[in-house]
Amino acid sequence: MNIQTISTSPFEGQILGTSGLRKKVSVFQQPHYLENFVQSIFDSLEGFQGKTLVIGGDGRYYNQIAIQTILKIAAANDFGQVLVGQNGLLSTPAASVLIRKYQAFGGIILSASHNPGGQDGDFGIKYNISNGGPAPENVTDAIYEQTEKISEYRITDTVDIDLTQLGETQVGKMKIKIIDPVADYVALMEQLFDFESMKALFQSGFTMRFDAMHAITGPYATHILEEKLGAPQGTVMNGIPLEDFGGGHPDPNLTYAHDLVDIMYGENAPQFGAASDGDGDRNMILGTSFFVTPSDSLAVLAANATLVPGYQDGLAGIARSMPTSEAADHVADELDIDCYETPTGWKFFGNLLDAGKTTLCGEESFGTGSSHVREKDGLWAVLFWLNLLAARRQSVETIVREHWAKYGRNFYSRHDYEGVDEQAATELMEHLYSTFSHLSGKQFGSHVVEYCDNFGYIDPVDHSISQDQGMRIGFQDGSRIVFRLSGTGTKGATLRVYLEFYEEDTAKHHLDAQTALAELIKVADEMAGIKKYTGYDKPSVIT
Ligand code: G1P
Ligand code: ZN
Repeated sequence: MNIQTISTSPFEGQILGTSGLRKKVSVFQQPHYLENFVQSIFDSLEGFQGKTLVIGGDGRYYNQIAIQTILKIAAANDFGQVLVGQNGLLSTPAASVLIRKYQAFGGIILSASHNPGGQDGDFGIKYNISNGGPAPENVTDAIYEQTEKISEYRITDTVDIDLTQLGETQVGKMKIKIIDPVADYVALMEQLFDFESMKALFQSGFTMRFDAMHAITGPYATHILEEKLGAPQGTVMNGIPLEDFGGGHPDPNLTYAHDLVDIMYGENAPQFGAASDGDGDRNMILGTSFFVTPSDSLAVLAANATLVPGYQDGLAGIARSMPTSEAADHVADELDIDCYETPTGWKFFGNLLDAGKTTLCGEESFGTGSSHVREKDGLWAVLFWLNLLAARRQSVETIVREHWAKYGRNFYSRHDYEGVDEQAATELMEHLYSTFSHLSGKQFGSHVVEYCDNFGYIDPVDHSISQDQGMRIGFQDGSRIVFRLSGTGTKGATLRVYLEFYEEDTAKHHLDAQTALAELIKVADEMAGIKKYTGYDKPSVIT
């Protein structure tokens, strides 16, 4: 084996967004592009020589090609061992499990999450640290700095590795282990959940559909639901991972998971429906003709956690991202535990979890997770719900309605405006911010502004500061509107408008969210000039 040192020069814009570096496949296919980025990751780290690295991805186009390159760069940079999921596959939460279980130095996950895949789709690369979670900002900033000054990378001249066969290969001093991508993850789920009671639920004739959206969770869900828990074959749909996700957009929401939504809102619908995204960290929960918002899902899981073996001793705390609804806060109040409000992105939960300050975490963007890993975990959330359904033997809808009756309902919706001109989006945010100095106390419809700010966060563990995390406006009646620009898009800007309205009156809980939020939706446009700046007369996606 020879190590070659290749001269290179920086590429512009290798900046890590909310969740790693995401670009079109064609951008990654440029000579040296991936190599520069991977070498920059390694150059920004210290002390990994001889240690273990975990590598896997969501199976999208370019996954395997990228893995071959990364293995050669890892060998040339003196990693001791690399664990690779068979066929290059690992869901994001499974990668987190492996990093933790095998005390790896870190992991590289190839994924652009829920963004479309295929030759014309998106590709992405994320770096996770030794706690199994996404690299925090000081690490991602250091990587970006390296990408701006890189002048050479090291790579071996070895042949490609066969990723299809389990087993071990030696490349120079580095060992490559091809491992079962599912086994360690399943073992952890068996520790957390009551598999016997879930099995009994299916034996009683309980019906469910899980939509893997032709993405990574297919093999995981089929193994757990159909093989371990005895759910009938066909419970998992779109279960074979495809490089282009079957042409779909693997994002589990009411717009993109339409195959599942049609079934759950159709005749003879199953009792429980769920879906996960491209890399397996997101989840959507449905009952028969009933949608559970991710914010409510977090609150319901928290309120019922002690019914689940892994959480029977109660929760240390709950954490939610700032734009996520305050439904979980009501549960935290009742349980007398802390509820943390963090900026958007899973990386902000890592310190809280490591310090034992929180047990459950959630984001409105279909992300829920716990201290079992340091990523959000789609299938875990589905199993948590299944365990609750097995324990309570009530419908999803009844569980949620009883929850609202007890805690009040936080009507919630997110309106996305995708592909907006970047300058127009920035101007909208700047204009909005410029109005903040005289907003307090002002009335909009029936809502009076209580506070408004550009959200900043001081991490309670390491005291690091994150500024500019979104414009939030809180009203005296507990309603909120939040404006943020996406950090994961690959084309233009995406404006996200988050709307929330708290209703205690059970008689009004049956209302449709868009109806309950109609006034706030108007107020949002009035405040920010959404139509004027974006040129859109309605959002491109409503969740
Ligand atoms: C989006 C979500 C955010 C999530 C991230 C990665 O980021 O809003 O909650 O953590 O994807 O899945 P955004 O595009 O809003 O920056
Ligand atoms: Zn994802």
